[in-house]
Amino acid sequence: MKNIVLIGIMGSGKTSIAKILGEKLNREVIDLDEYLEAKFQMTIPEMFEISEKYFRDNETLVCKDLQDKQDCIISTGGGVIGRPENMAALSNNATIVYINRPLELIMEDIEVSSRPLLKDGADKLKQLFKQRHPIYLSYCDVEVINDSSLDDIVNKIIKETKTHS
Ligand code: S3P
Repeated sequence: MKNIVLIGIMGSGKTSIAKILGEKLNREVIDLDEYLEAKFQMTIPEMFEISEKYFRDNETLVCKDLQDKQDCIISTGGGVIGRPENMAALSNNATIVYINRPLELIMEDIEVSSRPLLKDGADKLKQLFKQRHPIYLSYCDVEVINDSSLDDIVNKIIKETKTHS
């Protein structure tokens, strides 16, 4: 079966949604950021301290690691859409789902300390959203708006990805 790959801005709910999707569909869940930290034995803030390019190069390596996976739910970091080669690897045998969460809701509960790009404040999130939203749309097979309960959104994803599986 095809992988289900979740894309979307930081704080859109990809990690939590992936966990529940994995339980409901009984599929392996891979969180790209966690996989990256385990592979390189460093946290994401530590990688950014070296440089954003260092982090992005590692992120690309990890996308390529995962290109032959099957049946998985893959949750990605918000910037993964920045390099076409990442998306080429992740789109191999996958349905790409864009988790679009209204920014006001993201602002209410986003964890800023583990996200180096937000160290200068939440305005950065608005700017990134503006810049990335069209890119998320261009890559996704399915867009879901995450403005209700986790259960609702997971059920929506299950329903909408059935036709793509
Ligand atoms: C990033 C998002 C983060 C993480 C890194 C860079 C981004 O993942 O990959 O801090 O560029 O938007 P989440 O989207 O899971 O927060």
